[in-house]
Amino acid sequence: MLKIAPSLLSADFRNLEKQIRLIERGEADWVHLDIMDGHFVPNITFGPAVVKAVRKLTKLSLDAHLMIEKPERYLKAFKNAGVDRLTVHVEACQHLRRTVQQIKKLGMKAGVTLKPATPAKTLKNIMPYVDLVLVMTVHPGFSGQKFIESMLPKIREVAGMIRSSGRAIELEVDGGVDEHNAAALIRAGATVLVAGYSIFSRRSIPSAIKRLRNAAQA
Ligand code: DX5
Ligand code: ZN
Repeated sequence: MLKIAPSLLSADFRNLEKQIRLIERGEADWVHLDIMDGHFVPNITFGPAVVKAVRKLTKLSLDAHLMIEKPERYLKAFKNAGVDRLTVHVEACQHLRRTVQQIKKLGMKAGVTLKPATPAKTLKNIMPYVDLVLVMTVHPGFSGQKFIESMLPKIREVAGMIRSSGRAIELEVDGGVDEHNAAALIRAGATVLVAGYSIFSRRSIPSAIKRLRNAAQA
């Protein structure tokens, strides 16, 4: 089952409650939260306090993508803020397996993600432990960037690794996703589409979500 996860990074922060009601009306599945620290990526976004406020606004599953150095320092803070799925970058973790196991021990689903330049084979040893793999299709840091077409073979490769693991692992794609590339992403094996700009920049946010879902299933 395809899931759509709108990324709040492109939302209008003047009224998050209104934005959340709109994505609920569009039948979004998860809320994608991009956490940036100004070190691992050049941008800074928001942290556990804002996530906690979002938690109070919705029952949708909260999918946090940590683009921060030493993410192991903040696992508990995001759990306490109400996160359901916590994804860390393999490039940011010194002890990836330990971090993934800590996330699960705290009662969250654990995800791992790769920058565009990091090869899929980096995930080989961690596959037995993860619930989700996120493939970045832009360089992490900003919303509204162009989808990197050459990531499609990597998505197929990760999909193959998931199949051979025999486990139910979600394959999430993040960066420049829109109604033009959605179908190709699903064909390549994606099960979750993150989208910021292509949802929040549209006049009607609920229709943008529905359009993306229809395009993906076409
Ligand atoms: C980029 C973030 C993405 C981004 C998606 O670093 O991880 O989640 O906000 O936004 P769009 O869909 O606009 O590329
Ligand atoms: Zn993201």
